[in-house]
Amino acid sequence: MMMQKLRRSGAFIRFGCKSLITSRPDKNSVSRSVSGFVNHYKSKGKLFELSDGNYYNTELHHPCISRHLGMLLQQYKCFGSSAVSLIQRNPLFSSLDSKDVSYFKEILGEKNVIEDKERLETANTDWMHKYKGSSKLMLLPKNTQEVSQILQYCDSRRLAVVPQGGNTGLVGGSVPVFDEVIINVGLMNKVLAFDEVSGVLVCEAGCILENLATFLDTKGFIMPLDLGAKGSCHIGGNVSTNAGGLRLIRYGSLHGTVLGLEAVTANGNVLDMLGTLRKDNTGYDLKHLFIGSEGSLGIVTKVSILTQPKLSSVNLAFIACKDYLSCQKLLVEAKRNLGEILSAFEFLDNNSMDLVLNHLDGVRNPVSSSENFYILIETTGSDETNDREKLEAFLLKSLEKGLVSDGVIAQDINQASSFWRIREGITEALQRAGAVYKYDLSLPVEEIYNIVNDLRGRLGDLANVMGYGHLGDGNLHLNISATEYNDKLLGLIEPYVYEWTSKHRGSISAEHGLGVMKANEIFYSKSPETVALMASIKKLLDPKGILNPYKVLPHSLFSY
Ligand code: FAD
Ligand code: MLT
Ligand code: ZN
Repeated sequence: MMMQKLRRSGAFIRFGCKSLITSRPDKNSVSRSVSGFVNHYKSKGKLFELSDGNYYNTELHHPCISRHLGMLLQQYKCFGSSAVSLIQRNPLFSSLDSKDVSYFKEILGEKNVIEDKERLETANTDWMHKYKGSSKLMLLPKNTQEVSQILQYCDSRRLAVVPQGGNTGLVGGSVPVFDEVIINVGLMNKVLAFDEVSGVLVCEAGCILENLATFLDTKGFIMPLDLGAKGSCHIGGNVSTNAGGLRLIRYGSLHGTVLGLEAVTANGNVLDMLGTLRKDNTGYDLKHLFIGSEGSLGIVTKVSILTQPKLSSVNLAFIACKDYLSCQKLLVEAKRNLGEILSAFEFLDNNSMDLVLNHLDGVRNPVSSSENFYILIETTGSDETNDREKLEAFLLKSLEKGLVSDGVIAQDINQASSFWRIREGITEALQRAGAVYKYDLSLPVEEIYNIVNDLRGRLGDLANVMGYGHLGDGNLHLNISATEYNDKLLGLIEPYVYEWTSKHRGSISAEHGLGVMKANEIFYSKSPETVALMASIKKLLDPKGILNPYKVLPHSLFSY
C-alpha cells in the first residue's frame, strides 16, 4: 500500500540495496598534488616569490609590504583572511643549520629527513593553496621515541615545528608560517589492537582515516567519524582538529569517542593516556587538551577510539525543499520520527548544487527540477524492512505536509555514492571555481540561513555566496566564491561574518579549528578570561612556544 502510494506520487524511487556502509566512492578521497592555484596565479603575474619562499599577492598591496620592505623576510602574507595578513616571525626561534640536519639524520636515518624541493613544496602548501610556508626540512619519525627525540632536540635549540598529518586542514594550521620544521607522522600508520567485544581500536596517529574504515569493515565495524577528506586525512589530524564530519549527529564528537591517546609534549615528554575504558574518572581527563588543540600543545602519536558495529541496513534519501523553513521543520521531524536510525542530515543550497554541477564531471541533480535547498538524510539500522519503510513513510508524510517538494531514495550503492558525491564534492568544486573565502560556523539552526542571505545582499554581484553543511549539528559552511582574491571583497566579508556570528552567540569555528586563519579572532567566540587560561596552559606545556607557533591563540598573547 505504502509503496503504491509512493510510486504513484512519482516522487520517490524504492530503495533496494542491503548496505551502503562502504558505498562512498574512492574518488571522493582527497589526494592531490600541489599545482593549480599557486601556478595559476604565478602565470598571471599576480604573485611574486620572495627569497624566503613566501608568495605575496601583488594585487593585494598590503600597505605594510610597500612601507616596510626591509622587513619582508620576517613577514607572512596569505589569501583570504584579514587577520593573518601580517605576522612577524618570532626572532627568538633559531634557524636551522647543517648540524641540526645531521642530528636528525642520525636519529631518523637519511631517507626520513626530507630536503627535497618538490616534496617540501607540497608539504609547505595547504590543501586550498592559500597558505604557504618556507620550511627547509620535513621529518618523518617512525615511532613515538623518535618523535620524542626530535622534540627534545628542537626544544633545546628553540627550533619551531609544525605537526602535520594528511595536510587536508582548511585553516592553514598544518603548514609552516615561516621556516618551522615539519614533523609528519605518516609513517606511524599501524593498527595496534582491535577488541571485537568492546569495539575499541588502538592505532598510531598516522593511519589514514579511510584505511582504518577499510580495516574495520573486515571486522564488521565502522569508524564513528567520516569526512570528505577521508582518503588523505590521518586519525591524528582528526583528533588534533576534533574533526566533525557526516556522522557526528549519530555518534557524537571525538571528545566522546576518543577513549585515550598518547602525546608527546614540546620537551619530548611522552604522555601515556592511551586508555581503552569507557569510564575513568581518575583526576583530570587531560586527553581532552589534545583533542582539538591543533598541534599547539603536543604531537599525538597514538589514539584509542570507540568504533561502532556495522549495521545491515543503510538508506539514503536526496530531497529537495523550496525554502529554508521547510529544511528546519524537516530536521525537527526527522529527529522525532527517524530518531534512533538517523545517521546523517546534511544540506546544500542551490548555489552549491550549481557549483558542483558546473565543476565536477559526471554529476547530475538526482531530483528532476532545481529547487532552493537539498537535504541528504541517511538512516542506519539493523532491520532492513522496517528501516526502509520508516524512511519511506517519513518522506511521504513530509511530502504531504509540503515540507518536501521532491526526492529520491538511492536504489543501490552506486546511486548512494552519486548522492554523496554531490555533498562531499562541494569543497573540491569550490577549489576549481577560483578564489574561496571559507567560514565554518556553529549557529542556532533557525539563524543559519539568515547570514547567507545577509551576506548575499552585502556582496551583490561581487561574489557567489554558498551555504551548505551539517544542518543536523547546527554547522553552516559559509563559502564565498570569487574569480580572484581581493582586499575590497575581504573587507566586506570580515569582520562582518565574525561579528554577525558573535552577535548570535555562535562559534566562528564549528569543526575546522582556528589555525593561522582565525588565531586572532578567537575573542569573537571565547571570553578574554578563557583565552587567558588557554594561553597559560600553552605556556605550561610549551614554554618556549615551539609547537605550531602563530596558530590557534592570538599572537598578541605571546611577547617575543
Ligand atoms: P592536517 O591538515 O595535516 O593538520 C590539521 C591540524 O592538526 C594542524 O594544526 C596540524 O598541526 C595538526 N595535526 C595534524 N596531525 C597531528 C598530530 N599527529 N599531532 C598533533 N597535531 C597534529 N573537517 C571536518 O571537521 N569535517 C568535515 O566534514 C571535513 N571535510 C573535509 C572535506 C575536504 C574535501 C577537505 C579537504 C577537508 C575537510 N575537512 C573536514 C578538514 C580536514 O580534513 C580535517 O580538519 C582533518 O581532521 C584534518 O586532518 P589531517 O590529517 O589532514 O590534518
Ligand atoms: C564539509 O563538510 O564539506 C567540509 O567541512 C569541508 C568544507 O567545509 O568545505
Ligand atoms: Zn564540514
